[in-house]
Amino acid sequence: MTEYQTLTAADTVVRDGTIKLHGPEAFEGMRRAGRLAAETLDALVPLVQPGVTTAELDAFVRQFTLDGGAVPATLGYRGYAHSCCISINHVVCHGIPSDKTLKDGDIVNIDVTPLLDGWHGDSSRMYLVGDVALKARRLIDVTYECLMLGIEQARPGNRLGDIGAAIQRHAEARRYGVVREFCGHGVGRLFHDAPEVVHAARAGTGPELRPGMFFTIEPMINLGKPPVKLLEDGWTAVTRDRSLSAQFEHSVGITETGCEVFTYSPKGLDKPPY
Ligand code: MF3
Ligand code: CO
Ligand code: CO
Repeated sequence: MTEYQTLTAADTVVRDGTIKLHGPEAFEGMRRAGRLAAETLDALVPLVQPGVTTAELDAFVRQFTLDGGAVPATLGYRGYAHSCCISINHVVCHGIPSDKTLKDGDIVNIDVTPLLDGWHGDSSRMYLVGDVALKARRLIDVTYECLMLGIEQARPGNRLGDIGAAIQRHAEARRYGVVREFCGHGVGRLFHDAPEVVHAARAGTGPELRPGMFFTIEPMINLGKPPVKLLEDGWTAVTRDRSLSAQFEHSVGITETGCEVFTYSPKGLDKPPY
């Protein structure tokens, strides 16, 4: 049974398994946090080049976030000590910034979450480093299409499973693998809240979508099989078969008629080529 909780400005928000329903001021807060996330991802475009280290990109994200009046929500989150996640090639998600340099032909996901005035704007995009092989570019295109097909299903009256069903259908028709171990999530005052937004599901299943729900959709799609494994560092998730993986993420809010995407690029740089 799904419980919903209509939030007022005075409520303390806890992770109690309820799905939060938000009002107009909350939409305004998410718009601002989401815009900063998008501006951060826009500003990274010229920096993602062969030879740059992922630690340099992380330092840029940290400073850009602080300059925007926010803090990176990942800093200190469950012991994570960085301002973003940077996941290269077969890394599925939660790649840790380091002195590793990007090389020509790499595909890279950068995932940022500014916490601005109490609201989390969670978004990620893929970037191409130099000349990228056609099969990798195709994977990236289809992963972005998966995200947008999921977003198309995000409207009142639909169920959460309709989102995963649309994503799974599109990816599997191309023989790509949909990652099961990580999901989208409720977002807002909390970074990770109910519900879990799975990216492979049966249509018509799961909680009903209601106006005021905020959540992320963040499909991870593999060129090979779905399973992932976690590296020794406890964070880095990689494809078990070492195939390439791609991901895009937007934060959305359900409206009376559909959904509002809080993390669109103001410059239209939502997917490569930039
Ligand atoms: N931003 C990621 C997400 O989309 C979460 C990263 S948590 C971290 O949910 F600790 F790994 F940074
Ligand atoms: Co997320
Ligand atoms: Co994210």
